[in-house]
Amino acid sequence: MKPLEIKKGIYWVGVIDWNMRSFHGHTYTTKRGTTYNAYLIVDEKIALIDTVYGPFANELVERIREIVPPEKIDYVIANHVETDHSGAMPALMKLCPKAKVYGTQKCKEGLYRNYYENWDFQVVKTGDTLKLGKKTLTFIEAPMIHWPDSMFTYCREEELLMPNDAFGQHYATSARFDDEVDQCELMEEAKKYYANILWPLSSMIARKLEELQKMSLPINMIAPSHGIIWRKDPMKIVNAYAGWAKNTIAPKVVMVYETMWGSTEKMARKIAEGISDAGVDVKICDIAATDRTEVVTDMLDAKGFLIGSSTHDNDMLPTIAGFLEFLKGLKAKNRVAGVFGSFGWAGGAVAEMEKVLVEGGIGAAIPSISCKSVPDENDLKACYQFGKDFAGKVV
Ligand code: FEO
Repeated sequence: MKPLEIKKGIYWVGVIDWNMRSFHGHTYTTKRGTTYNAYLIVDEKIALIDTVYGPFANELVERIREIVPPEKIDYVIANHVETDHSGAMPALMKLCPKAKVYGTQKCKEGLYRNYYENWDFQVVKTGDTLKLGKKTLTFIEAPMIHWPDSMFTYCREEELLMPNDAFGQHYATSARFDDEVDQCELMEEAKKYYANILWPLSSMIARKLEELQKMSLPINMIAPSHGIIWRKDPMKIVNAYAGWAKNTIAPKVVMVYETMWGSTEKMARKIAEGISDAGVDVKICDIAATDRTEVVTDMLDAKGFLIGSSTHDNDMLPTIAGFLEFLKGLKAKNRVAGVFGSFGWAGGAVAEMEKVLVEGGIGAAIPSISCKSVPDENDLKACYQFGKDFAGKVV
């Protein structure tokens, strides 16, 4: 794949990782692969914005070489330390050892702790600029979006924002722009990315979006470091982030359960029937058979969460326990939440699940329903009514 000129004198020189299927230490299933986007700006001075994941360093270098000899790079802008964007830096910096690296103070510390190299480093803060010739770069610190070191780079002459991880998607495609891909796939991947990576940072994202608005930077293109570049409608993703960051939720229910011998599953299906018959959208997922990455994506904007488990050793089953731990880390708040499950003799799962939901601030005043062994006709009627009542709480 050739480098692509995305703006006059600004080239995409990134890498498409078609086969990446598991990201961030197996916390994120990337069924459509990903890209590591890096951008080369050729002006009187030459700047590279971010690099790529280390195993692809040669591909990055060869792509740069199609435009300029890498030795001519004057500046490497490191928007983010994480290895998927900085992993190629050691190989690249060997080719341009005099290039000055720009980034935040935390980035400087982070790069050193990753690579133990003493590159010439210029620490920058929000509002600092770097003139390349006709183009000027402005830096905007973006701590915890999504690491302490994170930074956005803006080119005002081209009205181009390069926000690194923000507004990205794990979406490998030979297309580079939003208007060249299926819009449903694109927004599905953008939502998944937000839910699995940025959800716990929503309050900081809301503040950063307000700050950007106050800065009144004209933006006609957003070029993130993963996935496609937003050129047709950059505000589409900004507005989507604004909604997710403000916890905008819809009257729908996501039910997640784990079952041992099928009794909890029978309850799940009957509860879902009650919800659906009440006119509320419901999705049910057996967590032992469903990808967690997809489930939390559905939960991002769902008002109702229902969690179910059979009792095992006076506790919930281990897969649902792991799922709840992950959900707690995402800091989902203030949902209408409920729990259900079957038990053989003493029970325990329902109480344990309830505890996690309440202590994690995910939901309060949680309704629950339990059933001893296999649900009979009366139990199933009660489950159906439980579903109807629950639906009434989410509309
Ligand atoms: Fe935070 Fe794409 O790395």
